[in-house]
Amino acid sequence: MLTDLIDRNQRWSDARHAEDPDYFRRLAAQQAPEFFWIGCSDSRVPANVVAGLDPGEVFVHRNVANVVHSSDMNLLSALEFAVDALNVREIIVCGHYGCGGVKAATEDMPHGLADHWLEPVRRLARAYAVDLARSDSDEARRDTLAELNVVEGVRRVSETPILQRAWRRRAEIRVHGLIYGLKDGRLRDLDCSTGPGHFLKAAAR
Ligand code: CO
Repeated sequence: MLTDLIDRNQRWSDARHAEDPDYFRRLAAQQAPEFFWIGCSDSRVPANVVAGLDPGEVFVHRNVANVVHSSDMNLLSALEFAVDALNVREIIVCGHYGCGGVKAATEDMPHGLADHWLEPVRRLARAYAVDLARSDSDEARRDTLAELNVVEGVRRVSETPILQRAWRRRAEIRVHGLIYGLKDGRLRDLDCSTGPGHFLKAAAR
């Protein structure tokens, strides 16, 4: 219930204030997060909580199945602000195993607007159909697709004019792909990070 939520907020705010009387005043004055997080809207994968970060430490954008659409003004505006105004050093695209959005992208039944949203994931499933078919189970196949979706997201973020511009001016920003396990609460690095060299390599091609 909403009143429970307001009560919980009051207890949290009181506890924080008791712990550090200057806490809210300091945070209200400025935010200087080191991380920008692009993750799934799933209620079980809140960026701050699973990454053990306090308010002020991570700038967050979440959508269904953490899809990076190259024309998503919401994501791009947040990305540009994170890079150009907040000067974040680490950008994280985080997917998760057991993702309902990824599952929806593998199903034949209609899901309304989500089918438009999830189209890049569906396209990935088609592109990697041969590899995905080697999985032992539907669950394993969807989890592999969730990983591929993260790797694709890292690539797309890296190719935005926002990152290319930042790297051209030698900004030390890295983009990482992580995946979160709902079953064990662990974040795993998918080893697909990009950095300033990504621009140099792209330019040399
Ligand atoms: Co999800």
